[in-house]
Amino acid sequence: MNTKVIAHRGFSAKAPENTLAAFQWAIKTKADGIELDVHLTLDGEVVVIHDEKIDRTTTGQGWIKDFTIAELRQFQNGVWFSEEYSDQIIPTLDEVLELASNTELLLNIELKNNVIFYSGLEETVVHKVEHFGLEKQVVISSFNHTSLAYLHQFRPNWSIAALYEEHLYKPWIYAKTFGASALHPIYTVVTEEMIEQCNQHGILVRPYTINCTQDMKRFVDLQVDAIITDFPDQLYGLLQEK
Ligand code: G3P
Ligand code: CA
Repeated sequence: MNTKVIAHRGFSAKAPENTLAAFQWAIKTKADGIELDVHLTLDGEVVVIHDEKIDRTTTGQGWIKDFTIAELRQFQNGVWFSEEYSDQIIPTLDEVLELASNTELLLNIELKNNVIFYSGLEETVVHKVEHFGLEKQVVISSFNHTSLAYLHQFRPNWSIAALYEEHLYKPWIYAKTFGASALHPIYTVVTEEMIEQCNQHGILVRPYTINCTQDMKRFVDLQVDAIITDFPDQLYGLLQEK
């Protein structure tokens, strides 16, 4: 089995995270997939951005939940990274789905609903993905496992993945309690035993966020299903050498 390359927030070492530019770079770099973070605006639009507030990555300030999509789109979303990306604005999920249409990209959509409990986020994301017919390419992940359990109730065939950053007791058993077919742990809590058990129980393992070549090599040798990285180019190069 070949480990897949998932570009974390797009090719976020090359272009500002969670922008169309970062996703386009990921595609150019031949990543197998992209990871993106989503929130809900005041008027119910799904936007692609990491933090609950826009302060760190845009020229604006405040909570995403307090802005309409039209207001959010007025802020620059790439100058913090480089002037070269001054044209980037906060993408909508629709724009990313459009970009992924007619590709075989795996789309790992992370519901960022572990701090703000956006009402209706699960349904809105599901309907948008289905509108583009991309449900077979999508993996929904979240640190909010109740949200995943909820989504699993009305879309039992969708791929869902539990994000976590602490050691869990038998995570391969835990995943099945709410219909997750994959685990997305921080790489520091992944052990060989855990990978073996997941393999035996049919649970995929995709650790995040692995940016050091030595760690990439170790996890490729351990045959994890995918690696989530800010440097998809390096991981791709390493896999080509194998
Ligand atoms: O999906 C893995 C990773 O993106 C989770 O952490 O903070 O980068 O969204 P974060
Ligand atoms: Ca994320």
